[in-house]
Amino acid sequence: MAKTNYDVKDLKLAEKGRFRIQWAAHEMPVLRLIEDRFAKERPLAGLRLGACLHVTTETANLMRVLQAGGADVTLCASNPLSTQDDVAAALVTEHEMSVYAIKGEDNKTYYQHIQATLDQKPHATMDDGADLVSILHKERQELIPGVLGGTEETTTGVIRLRAMAQEGKLRFPVIAVNDALTKHLFDNRYGTGQSTIDGVVRATNILLAGKVFVVGGYGWCSRGIASRARGLGARVVVTEVNPLRALEAVMDGFEVMPMARAAAIGDIFVTSTGDINVVDGHHFDVMKDGAILANSGHFNVELNLPALQSRSTEVRRVREFLEEYHLKDGRRIYVIADGRLVNLAAAEGHPASVMDMSFANQALGLEYMVKHHGELQKQVYPIPEAIDRQIARLKLQAMGIEIDTLTPEQEKYLRSWEEGT
Ligand code: ADE
Repeated sequence: MAKTNYDVKDLKLAEKGRFRIQWAAHEMPVLRLIEDRFAKERPLAGLRLGACLHVTTETANLMRVLQAGGADVTLCASNPLSTQDDVAAALVTEHEMSVYAIKGEDNKTYYQHIQATLDQKPHATMDDGADLVSILHKERQELIPGVLGGTEETTTGVIRLRAMAQEGKLRFPVIAVNDALTKHLFDNRYGTGQSTIDGVVRATNILLAGKVFVVGGYGWCSRGIASRARGLGARVVVTEVNPLRALEAVMDGFEVMPMARAAAIGDIFVTSTGDINVVDGHHFDVMKDGAILANSGHFNVELNLPALQSRSTEVRRVREFLEEYHLKDGRRIYVIADGRLVNLAAAEGHPASVMDMSFANQALGLEYMVKHHGELQKQVYPIPEAIDRQIARLKLQAMGIEIDTLTPEQEKYLRSWEEGT
């Protein structure tokens, strides 16, 4: 373990982490198949990988697969609150991996951990939110000639990287894992849906049935949250800025209205839009006493907490991950996990079964990038469709579900245009 550098909370937590990593592995059959092939073929041999991801049991399984493929992995946290300290410890002691991640680390430590990961001079990056690529381009440009390319996990990161590419600032190719259908249709929708509700319930233990549950946005994550909240009996209100998405929400049976109106009637608010100040100062002014706020978007910018702070006389912690803001007019507003992604901060993130597909895309996307980097421009590329379909096929197979195939007659029909009514 001599060459392993790390900054984790406590190596004594490793045994607990090891069991939890194994437990998640049961639900990650696609990743297991990739691991078997990677161990034989070693497609990542000699590759130094800098990964900036949520340090969870699922991520640990991905890191093992990449190691099996021959990569030399350094991992840091992609959010100050999402690290599972036992997992970080297990990766260091059981897998001799360099890990820089501590749950609750301050912003300074968070960025020091990113810098320590970059100190390993990675040949490839793997990001969740694009902080690693961003710091690399802003502060460590001397390392860029050694980087073949990267992969990006999430909607927010892909948006940032496309903005960089648009301005001609991106200096290596990046594969957008989030664009894969086997990623966003499942992870963003069912993963965020379930884990967000899990975070809200763990932090508050409130009954959702009968509550007015306001969801900010109706993208893939928000629609998962809305659907799961409805499943638990909440009266769900959706707010949107995009008319098409708003229309979908209406026809999916949700009430749609501006946040200014929703603010006055909501019991629970969860944002997942990717934009700032979705719940803003003037919204706090009309909220009910006891309203509960959380965010499930990547960055902690969706709830305007400075505006809430300025309206408050006192802020106190009333439960783990739950802060009470005492407003000057006597009302109380509750904020979960400082407005950081509630599913990872107050719960354990998405369940392994969906991360199986997201991380299969990461592993195969990285392999593709390593093989094809010479042909790629300094752009953001979607996961190739063949990889996406292969992952769907493997997942179905692992679930024991068979599907039909087109007959030659049906294939011919689909290729023809002459036959009509
Ligand atoms: N993002 C959301 N859930 C996650 C998980 N369980 N592991 C890693 N990244 C995640």
